[in-house]
Amino acid sequence: MPITIKSDREIELMAEAGRILEIVHNELAKGLRPGMSTLDIDKMGEEIIRSYGCIPSFLDYNGYPASICVSVNEEVVHGIPDKSRILKDGDIVSLDAGVIYKGYHSDAARTHGIGEISEEAKKLIRVTRECFFEGIKYAKEGNHLFDISGAIGRYAGKYGYGVVRDLCGHGIGTNLHEAPEIPNYEVSRKGVMLKAGMTLAIEPMINMGGWEVDWLDDDWTVIARDHSLSAHYENTVLITESEPRLLTLTSRTE
Ligand code: MF3
Ligand code: CO
Repeated sequence: MPITIKSDREIELMAEAGRILEIVHNELAKGLRPGMSTLDIDKMGEEIIRSYGCIPSFLDYNGYPASICVSVNEEVVHGIPDKSRILKDGDIVSLDAGVIYKGYHSDAARTHGIGEISEEAKKLIRVTRECFFEGIKYAKEGNHLFDISGAIGRYAGKYGYGVVRDLCGHGIGTNLHEAPEIPNYEVSRKGVMLKAGMTLAIEPMINMGGWEVDWLDDDWTVIARDHSLSAHYENTVLITESEPRLLTLTSRTE
């Protein structure tokens, strides 16, 4: 599938999908408490998404059974919400969500600490977010796709962290996953030339230890093989002729 270039009308629909998803994430962040279950988070998220007239993108996507991916501690991504999985003080939790607004998708992830978390955990969360911002320094018309990948991978590498290789960022639009795939590590090829109107979900997934991962028996939950903590940070980004427009982060509150 070719990479789609969005029209001005499509960009405004994606921006609205992004703006709503930003609200969803901000509300979820405010609602997190020790003692709540990961299913409580999913219910809260689905309710907020539907209250804006949107559809949760992930629900039933390839059979995924929930609206929000909730991944705790060594879980990297795609954790399945569960009423018996209770968050406790000191946990870190990655929340990944997507909404569909008038047929257009947005996709974003944030990692949060529950109560008091260790300094190392705080650093992992901070650096994972910084990886995203390092990557988007190159997210501009005329640069190559893998400029973004290399910047993310090198930045994580400076801290000795493991960059997950089995999952990538992706194009996004009328489908949750569109071309191109966006690795979070340095590759020797250059990748396609970026053009204004491309919309990309850029999403570093970073382990405190090694990069290797395993899938659990549910065939969704991805965990760090060495059980080290893992963080995830993602925004839907519009490529322009100048600075990228962050569709899922219009006001930097966190
Ligand atoms: N944000 C993730 C991604 O980009 C989650 C989608 S997987 C789903 O791939 F199955 F839960 F939808
Ligand atoms: Co994504």
